[in-house]
Amino acid sequence: MTAQWIDGKVIAATLREKVARQAAHYKSMHGQQAGLAVVLVGNDPASQVYVRSKIKMTTEAGLRSIEHVLPAETAEADLLALVEKLNADPTVDGILVQLPLPPQINADKVIAAIHPDKDVDGFHPVNVGRLATGTGGLVPCTPLGSLMLLKTVQPDLSGLEAIVLGRSNIVGKPMAQLLLAESCTVTVAHSRSRDLPALCRRADIVVAAVGRPEMVRGDWIKAGAIVIDVGINRVPDPASGEGKTKLVGDVAFAEAAAKASFITPVPGGVGPMTIACLLANCLKAAAMRRGWESPVF
Ligand code: GUN
Repeated sequence: MTAQWIDGKVIAATLREKVARQAAHYKSMHGQQAGLAVVLVGNDPASQVYVRSKIKMTTEAGLRSIEHVLPAETAEADLLALVEKLNADPTVDGILVQLPLPPQINADKVIAAIHPDKDVDGFHPVNVGRLATGTGGLVPCTPLGSLMLLKTVQPDLSGLEAIVLGRSNIVGKPMAQLLLAESCTVTVAHSRSRDLPALCRRADIVVAAVGRPEMVRGDWIKAGAIVIDVGINRVPDPASGEGKTKLVGDVAFAEAAAKASFITPVPGGVGPMTIACLLANCLKAAAMRRGWESPVF
């Protein structure tokens, strides 16, 4: 079998268009624009790239972008004070504090300070609880985007065996909750799991989010399985020349594509979905808080 690619670039562009249409509808109906506040502390180059991209796409979708860049030596109390100000600002619907934060700042404390109804990352313990209990709320963007990709090729996931590789709060755990809510039988595997290849070979759906380049090999994949690769790893690429690098996922793509029915590429799979889902979450937060009709995506 040779897998078909799940094209995250195209699916994310479609979602961003839907967000833009919905934002325009809200503006015409209510004369207001949803606002997303993005806070960057310090000058981590990868974070700067992510934040720039988030701001550009926010504006392109017709949402208002509010940017706060703070110096790396910012005190925790000052960041908490800014979060409080954004919580109280009625023109701000979503608050995203880019992670990682400098060592003097406790990220858990900052996440807990964001009002749960403005927590477009879905990281606040209240939203974690809402997801676990199936009571609505804002869902973390990367797992939400991964589920959307999965459902483009398999709308009914009920009864399927799914394995999530990785147990992070940002991807692995919420992904497992989303799959459980879709009535999958879910295994969460991690660095201490015994015989990962054997666990993986049982799965109809493999979601890899471990941050280890090409760890999942072709012979771990059951024939016809769907593979969602969340990993984005930069590795040396001597074939392209001295000192060159390339991006690879957590899955050995060519090997896995020979076994799977559908697979997401890296880059161009889950990555583009994350920002599109952030915009969707921001509109959802705006609609909930401002009493607008629910967005349709
Ligand atoms: N850093 C890397 N990914 C993310 C994300 O999804 N949200 C936030 N806030 N920071 C990140």
